[in-house]
Amino acid sequence: MKPIKAGLLGLGTVGAGTYHVLQRNQEEIRRRAGRGIEVSMVAVRNVERARKIINSGIVGSEVEVVADPFAVVNNPDIDIVVELIGGYDLTRELVLQAIANGKHVVTANKALLALHGNEIFEAAQAKGVMVAFEAAVAGGIPIIKALREGLSANRIESVAGIINGTTNFILSEMRDKGLDFNTVLKQAQELGYAEADPTFDIEGVDAAHKLTIMSAIAFGIPVQFGSAHIEGISQLQAVDLRYAEQLGYRIKLLGITRRTTVDGKEGIELRVHPTLVPGARLIANVEGAMNAVLVQADAVGATLYYGKGAGAEPTASAVIADLIDVTRLATADPYSRVPHLAFQPTELADVPI
Ligand code: HSE
Repeated sequence: MKPIKAGLLGLGTVGAGTYHVLQRNQEEIRRRAGRGIEVSMVAVRNVERARKIINSGIVGSEVEVVADPFAVVNNPDIDIVVELIGGYDLTRELVLQAIANGKHVVTANKALLALHGNEIFEAAQAKGVMVAFEAAVAGGIPIIKALREGLSANRIESVAGIINGTTNFILSEMRDKGLDFNTVLKQAQELGYAEADPTFDIEGVDAAHKLTIMSAIAFGIPVQFGSAHIEGISQLQAVDLRYAEQLGYRIKLLGITRRTTVDGKEGIELRVHPTLVPGARLIANVEGAMNAVLVQADAVGATLYYGKGAGAEPTASAVIADLIDVTRLATADPYSRVPHLAFQPTELADVPI
Protein backbone atom coordinates (compact mmCIF):
# COMPACT_ATOMS: atom_id res chain seq x y z
CA MET A 1 0.00 0.00 0.00
CA LYS A 2 1.24 3.49 -0.83
CA PRO A 3 2.42 5.62 2.12
CA ILE A 4 -0.01 8.13 3.57
CA LYS A 5 1.17 11.69 2.98
CA ALA A 6 1.59 14.17 5.79
CA GLY A 7 2.24 17.89 5.50
CA LEU A 8 3.93 19.60 8.46
CA LEU A 9 3.09 23.16 9.41
CA GLY A 10 6.15 24.29 11.38
CA LEU A 11 9.54 22.70 11.87
CA GLY A 12 10.55 24.18 15.23
CA THR A 13 11.47 22.13 18.30
CA VAL A 14 8.52 19.72 18.07
CA GLY A 15 8.40 19.71 14.25
CA ALA A 16 12.07 18.79 13.96
CA GLY A 17 11.66 16.15 16.70
CA THR A 18 8.69 14.69 14.83
CA TYR A 19 10.57 14.62 11.57
CA HIS A 20 13.59 12.87 13.10
CA VAL A 21 11.63 10.26 15.08
CA LEU A 22 9.50 9.48 11.99
CA GLN A 23 12.69 8.83 10.07
CA ARG A 24 14.55 6.97 12.81
CA ASN A 25 11.68 4.60 13.63
CA GLN A 26 10.17 4.46 10.18
CA GLU A 27 10.09 0.69 9.91
CA GLU A 28 8.38 0.17 13.30
CA ILE A 29 5.97 2.99 12.51
CA ARG A 30 5.14 1.52 9.11
CA ARG A 31 4.33 -1.84 10.71
CA ARG A 32 2.19 -0.31 13.40
CA ALA A 33 0.32 2.02 11.07
CA GLY A 34 -0.14 -0.68 8.44
CA ARG A 35 1.45 1.56 5.80
CA GLY A 36 4.25 4.08 5.61
CA ILE A 37 3.86 7.67 6.80
CA GLU A 38 5.71 10.07 4.56
CA VAL A 39 6.29 13.76 5.21
CA SER A 40 6.04 15.14 1.70
CA MET A 41 5.66 18.85 2.41
CA VAL A 42 6.74 21.26 5.12
CA ALA A 43 5.71 24.89 5.57
CA VAL A 44 8.13 27.06 7.54
CA ARG A 45 9.12 30.68 7.99
CA ASN A 46 12.82 29.96 7.48
CA VAL A 47 13.16 27.73 4.42
CA GLU A 48 16.98 27.45 4.61
CA ARG A 49 16.94 26.29 8.23
CA ALA A 50 14.26 23.72 7.39
CA ARG A 51 16.35 22.32 4.54
CA LYS A 52 19.27 21.81 6.94
CA ILE A 53 17.04 19.89 9.38
CA ILE A 54 15.65 17.74 6.59
CA ASN A 55 19.09 17.09 5.09
CA SER A 56 20.41 16.02 8.51
CA GLY A 57 17.92 13.14 8.43
CA ILE A 58 19.06 9.54 8.15
CA VAL A 59 17.56 8.99 4.72
CA GLY A 60 17.56 11.23 1.69
CA SER A 61 14.16 12.83 1.51
CA GLU A 62 12.06 14.42 -1.18
CA VAL A 63 10.35 16.96 1.01
CA GLU A 64 8.93 20.08 -0.57
CA VAL A 65 9.70 23.06 1.67
CA VAL A 66 7.43 26.07 1.27
CA ALA A 67 6.90 29.35 3.10
CA ASP A 68 3.11 29.49 2.65
CA PRO A 69 1.24 27.15 5.05
CA PHE A 70 -1.90 27.38 2.91
CA ALA A 71 0.07 25.64 0.13
CA VAL A 72 0.09 22.58 2.43
CA VAL A 73 -3.54 22.65 3.55
CA ASN A 74 -4.73 23.22 -0.04
CA ASN A 75 -2.47 20.55 -1.58
CA PRO A 76 -4.74 17.73 -2.84
CA ASP A 77 -1.92 15.17 -2.37
CA ILE A 78 -1.69 15.71 1.41
CA ASP A 79 -3.84 13.35 3.52
CA ILE A 80 -2.94 14.58 7.03
CA VAL A 81 -1.99 18.08 8.10
CA VAL A 82 0.23 18.20 11.19
CA GLU A 83 -0.11 21.61 12.79
CA LEU A 84 2.93 22.52 14.91
CA ILE A 85 3.03 26.28 14.46
CA GLY A 86 1.31 27.34 17.68
CA GLY A 87 -0.83 30.43 18.23
CA TYR A 88 -4.55 30.50 17.56
CA ASP A 89 -5.54 32.99 14.85
CA LEU A 90 -3.66 31.82 11.77
CA THR A 91 -3.75 28.22 12.97
CA ARG A 92 -7.56 28.35 13.39
CA GLU A 93 -7.84 29.40 9.76
CA LEU A 94 -5.37 26.77 8.59
CA VAL A 95 -6.97 23.93 10.52
CA LEU A 96 -10.51 24.85 9.42
CA GLN A 97 -9.29 25.10 5.82
CA ALA A 98 -7.59 21.70 6.06
CA ILE A 99 -10.81 20.19 7.43
CA ALA A 100 -12.90 21.86 4.72
CA ASN A 101 -10.51 20.24 2.21
CA GLY A 102 -11.25 16.82 3.73
CA LYS A 103 -7.88 16.39 5.45
CA HIS A 104 -7.30 14.82 8.83
CA VAL A 105 -5.50 17.03 11.33
CA VAL A 106 -2.95 16.22 14.02
CA THR A 107 -2.13 19.12 16.31
CA ALA A 108 -0.04 19.80 19.41
CA ASN A 109 -1.74 23.17 19.84
CA LYS A 110 -3.46 23.39 23.22
CA ALA A 111 -4.18 27.13 22.92
CA LEU A 112 -5.98 26.56 19.63
CA LEU A 113 -8.15 23.76 21.03
CA ALA A 114 -8.84 25.50 24.34
CA LEU A 115 -10.10 28.56 22.49
CA HIS A 116 -11.56 27.20 19.24
CA GLY A 117 -11.90 23.47 19.94
CA ASN A 118 -15.71 23.42 19.81
CA GLU A 119 -15.77 25.01 16.36
CA ILE A 120 -12.95 22.78 15.09
CA PHE A 121 -14.44 19.52 16.40
CA GLU A 122 -17.86 20.39 14.94
CA ALA A 123 -16.33 21.16 11.56
CA ALA A 124 -14.38 17.88 11.62
CA GLN A 125 -17.47 15.89 12.57
CA ALA A 126 -19.51 17.48 9.79
CA LYS A 127 -16.79 16.69 7.26
CA GLY A 128 -16.07 13.18 8.58
CA VAL A 129 -12.37 13.77 9.26
CA MET A 130 -10.30 13.25 12.40
CA VAL A 131 -8.66 15.84 14.62
CA ALA A 132 -6.10 14.19 16.90
CA PHE A 133 -4.38 16.12 19.70
CA GLU A 134 -2.56 13.80 22.10
CA ALA A 135 0.51 16.06 22.00
CA ALA A 136 -1.50 19.08 23.14
CA VAL A 137 -1.61 17.87 26.75
CA ALA A 138 1.28 16.70 28.95
CA GLY A 139 3.79 16.17 26.12
CA GLY A 140 4.66 12.50 25.79
CA ILE A 141 2.19 11.15 28.38
CA PRO A 142 -0.75 9.49 26.60
CA ILE A 143 -3.30 11.14 28.89
CA ILE A 144 -5.85 11.96 26.18
CA LYS A 145 -5.98 8.32 25.10
CA ALA A 146 -6.19 7.26 28.76
CA LEU A 147 -9.13 9.57 29.49
CA ARG A 148 -10.95 8.92 26.23
CA GLU A 149 -10.29 5.20 25.75
CA GLY A 150 -8.63 3.55 28.73
CA LEU A 151 -11.06 4.96 31.29
CA SER A 152 -14.14 5.15 29.09
CA ALA A 153 -16.13 2.75 31.31
CA ASN A 154 -15.79 5.08 34.30
CA ARG A 155 -17.53 8.09 35.73
CA ILE A 156 -14.55 10.37 36.20
CA GLU A 157 -14.59 12.42 39.39
CA SER A 158 -11.48 14.54 39.03
CA VAL A 159 -8.34 15.11 37.01
CA ALA A 160 -5.49 16.93 38.69
CA GLY A 161 -1.79 17.35 38.22
CA ILE A 162 1.34 19.05 37.02
CA ILE A 163 0.77 19.83 33.38
CA ASN A 164 3.32 22.52 32.66
CA GLY A 165 6.93 21.36 32.46
CA THR A 166 8.46 24.85 32.39
CA THR A 167 6.98 25.97 35.70
CA ASN A 168 7.72 22.66 37.40
CA PHE A 169 11.31 22.93 36.16
CA ILE A 170 11.53 26.50 37.47
CA LEU A 171 10.11 25.58 40.89
CA SER A 172 12.43 22.56 41.22
CA GLU A 173 15.57 24.46 40.23
CA MET A 174 14.74 27.48 42.42
CA ARG A 175 14.22 25.23 45.42
CA ASP A 176 17.15 22.85 44.90
CA LYS A 177 19.80 25.19 43.54
CA GLY A 178 18.61 28.50 44.95
CA LEU A 179 18.67 29.95 41.42
CA ASP A 180 16.58 32.99 40.65
CA PHE A 181 13.42 32.86 38.58
CA ASN A 182 14.75 34.54 35.41
CA THR A 183 17.92 32.43 35.22
CA VAL A 184 15.91 29.21 35.35
CA LEU A 185 13.29 30.50 32.89
CA LYS A 186 16.11 31.18 30.41
CA GLN A 187 17.34 27.58 30.87
CA ALA A 188 13.83 26.25 30.26
CA GLN A 189 13.68 28.24 27.02
CA GLU A 190 17.07 26.91 25.92
CA LEU A 191 15.94 23.35 26.65
CA GLY A 192 12.88 23.83 24.43
CA TYR A 193 10.31 23.51 27.23
CA ALA A 194 8.90 27.03 27.29
CA GLU A 195 6.31 28.45 24.94
CA ALA A 196 7.33 31.09 22.37
CA ASP A 197 5.71 33.55 24.78
CA PRO A 198 6.76 32.18 28.21
CA THR A 199 4.13 34.36 29.92
CA PHE A 200 1.69 31.59 29.04
CA ASP A 201 3.80 29.14 31.06
CA ILE A 202 4.58 31.26 34.09
CA GLU A 203 1.11 32.79 34.43
CA GLY A 204 -0.62 29.39 34.31
CA VAL A 205 -2.32 29.99 30.95
CA ASP A 206 -0.66 27.03 29.24
CA ALA A 207 -1.71 24.73 32.09
CA ALA A 208 -5.26 26.10 31.87
CA HIS A 209 -5.36 25.40 28.13
CA LYS A 210 -4.41 21.78 28.79
CA LEU A 211 -6.77 21.45 31.75
CA THR A 212 -9.66 22.74 29.64
CA ILE A 213 -9.03 20.06 27.04
CA MET A 214 -8.76 17.26 29.61
CA SER A 215 -11.91 18.49 31.34
CA ALA A 216 -13.88 18.40 28.10
CA ILE A 217 -12.87 14.79 27.50
CA ALA A 218 -13.17 13.59 31.09
CA PHE A 219 -16.64 15.04 31.64
CA GLY A 220 -18.04 15.13 28.11
CA ILE A 221 -18.52 18.89 28.12
CA PRO A 222 -17.63 21.59 25.57
CA VAL A 223 -14.20 23.20 25.97
CA GLN A 224 -14.65 26.26 28.17
CA PHE A 225 -11.36 28.00 28.79
CA GLY A 226 -13.18 31.17 29.87
CA SER A 227 -14.48 29.41 33.01
CA ALA A 228 -11.03 28.56 34.38
CA HIS A 229 -9.55 30.28 37.43
CA ILE A 230 -5.89 30.94 36.56
CA GLU A 231 -2.95 31.95 38.75
CA GLY A 232 0.70 31.41 37.81
CA ILE A 233 4.01 31.27 39.67
CA SER A 234 5.45 34.70 38.86
CA GLN A 235 4.73 36.01 42.36
CA LEU A 236 6.57 33.14 44.07
CA GLN A 237 10.03 33.64 45.52
CA ALA A 238 12.71 31.15 46.57
CA VAL A 239 11.90 31.95 50.20
CA ASP A 240 8.28 30.75 49.73
CA LEU A 241 9.58 27.43 48.45
CA ARG A 242 11.96 27.10 51.39
CA TYR A 243 9.29 27.90 53.99
CA ALA A 244 6.94 25.38 52.41
CA GLU A 245 9.71 22.78 52.59
CA GLN A 246 10.28 23.51 56.30
CA LEU A 247 6.57 22.94 56.95
CA GLY A 248 6.71 19.59 55.12
CA TYR A 249 5.15 20.77 51.84
CA ARG A 250 6.21 21.46 48.27
CA ILE A 251 4.69 24.20 46.15
CA LYS A 252 3.47 22.89 42.81
CA LEU A 253 1.52 24.58 40.05
CA LEU A 254 -1.49 22.28 39.80
CA GLY A 255 -4.31 22.14 37.31
CA ILE A 256 -7.46 20.70 38.87
CA THR A 257 -10.81 19.91 37.29
CA ARG A 258 -13.53 18.07 39.19
CA ARG A 259 -17.24 17.65 39.66
CA THR A 260 -18.74 20.05 42.18
CA THR A 261 -22.14 20.72 43.66
CA VAL A 262 -22.89 24.29 44.68
CA ASP A 263 -26.34 25.10 46.16
CA GLY A 264 -27.58 21.76 44.90
CA LYS A 265 -26.45 22.55 41.35
CA GLU A 266 -23.93 20.24 39.71
CA GLY A 267 -21.05 21.71 37.79
CA ILE A 268 -17.41 21.34 36.84
CA GLU A 269 -14.59 23.28 38.44
CA LEU A 270 -11.49 24.29 36.48
CA ARG A 271 -8.57 25.87 38.30
CA VAL A 272 -4.82 26.40 38.00
CA HIS A 273 -2.81 27.82 40.90
CA PRO A 274 0.26 27.22 43.05
CA THR A 275 -0.68 24.62 45.66
CA LEU A 276 0.92 23.37 48.86
CA VAL A 277 1.25 19.61 48.42
CA PRO A 278 2.28 17.43 51.41
CA GLY A 279 5.90 16.38 50.79
CA ALA A 280 5.18 12.64 50.99
CA ARG A 281 2.68 12.65 48.09
CA LEU A 282 3.85 11.33 44.72
CA ILE A 283 2.83 14.57 43.01
CA ALA A 284 5.08 16.55 45.39
CA ASN A 285 8.06 14.55 44.16
CA VAL A 286 7.57 15.15 40.45
CA GLU A 287 10.60 17.24 39.56
CA GLY A 288 12.05 19.13 36.61
CA ALA A 289 10.09 19.29 33.37
CA MET A 290 8.21 16.11 34.23
CA ASN A 291 4.40 16.06 34.28
CA ALA A 292 2.05 13.90 36.34
CA VAL A 293 -1.72 13.58 36.13
CA LEU A 294 -3.85 11.87 38.76
CA VAL A 295 -7.31 10.72 37.69
CA GLN A 296 -10.00 9.65 40.15
CA ALA A 297 -12.69 7.50 38.59
CA ASP A 298 -15.47 5.37 40.06
CA ALA A 299 -14.67 1.90 38.75
CA VAL A 300 -10.89 1.87 38.57
CA GLY A 301 -10.15 4.26 41.47
CA ALA A 302 -7.03 6.40 41.25
CA THR A 303 -4.64 6.12 38.32
CA LEU A 304 -1.47 8.17 37.91
CA TYR A 305 0.25 9.09 34.65
CA TYR A 306 3.83 10.34 34.74
CA GLY A 307 6.38 11.30 32.13
CA LYS A 308 8.10 14.01 30.15
CA GLY A 309 5.67 16.86 29.64
CA ALA A 310 7.69 18.93 27.21
CA GLY A 311 10.62 18.79 24.82
CA ALA A 312 11.20 17.77 21.22
CA GLU A 313 11.06 13.97 21.20
CA PRO A 314 8.59 13.37 24.06
CA THR A 315 6.10 15.62 22.26
CA ALA A 316 7.03 14.05 18.92
CA SER A 317 6.16 10.68 20.47
CA ALA A 318 2.58 11.86 21.00
CA VAL A 319 2.33 13.56 17.59
CA ILE A 320 3.44 10.38 15.84
CA ALA A 321 1.13 8.17 17.92
CA ASP A 322 -1.71 10.33 16.57
CA LEU A 323 -0.34 10.07 13.04
CA ILE A 324 -0.34 6.28 13.39
CA ASP A 325 -3.89 6.26 14.79
CA VAL A 326 -5.20 8.48 12.03
CA THR A 327 -3.42 6.39 9.40
CA ARG A 328 -4.94 3.18 10.77
CA LEU A 329 -8.42 4.64 10.93
CA ALA A 330 -8.16 6.45 7.59
CA THR A 331 -7.11 3.17 6.04
CA ALA A 332 -10.13 1.47 7.66
CA ASP A 333 -7.80 -1.16 9.01
CA PRO A 334 -7.47 -0.34 12.68
CA TYR A 335 -7.01 -3.81 14.11
CA SER A 336 -5.42 -6.21 11.67
CA ARG A 337 -1.85 -5.07 12.21
CA VAL A 338 -1.40 -5.23 15.93
CA PRO A 339 2.29 -4.77 16.73
CA HIS A 340 3.14 -8.29 17.84
CA LEU A 341 2.23 -9.63 14.39
CA ALA A 342 5.11 -7.59 13.02
CA PHE A 343 7.63 -10.01 14.53
CA GLN A 344 8.45 -13.28 12.84
CA PRO A 345 7.91 -16.47 14.89
CA THR A 346 11.33 -17.71 13.71
CA GLU A 347 12.99 -15.09 15.91
CA LEU A 348 11.52 -16.88 18.91
CA ALA A 349 12.84 -20.28 17.78
CA ASP A 350 16.39 -19.18 18.59
CA VAL A 351 15.69 -18.13 22.16
CA PRO A 352 17.40 -20.62 24.53
CA ILE A 353 15.03 -22.16 27.05
N1 HSE B 1 5.51 24.99 27.49
C1 HSE B 1 4.93 23.72 27.72
C2 HSE B 1 5.40 23.18 29.06
C3 HSE B 1 5.35 22.80 26.60
O1 HSE B 1 6.37 23.73 29.60
O2 HSE B 1 4.80 22.25 29.58
C4 HSE B 1 4.58 21.51 26.56
O3 HSE B 1 3.23 21.70 26.36
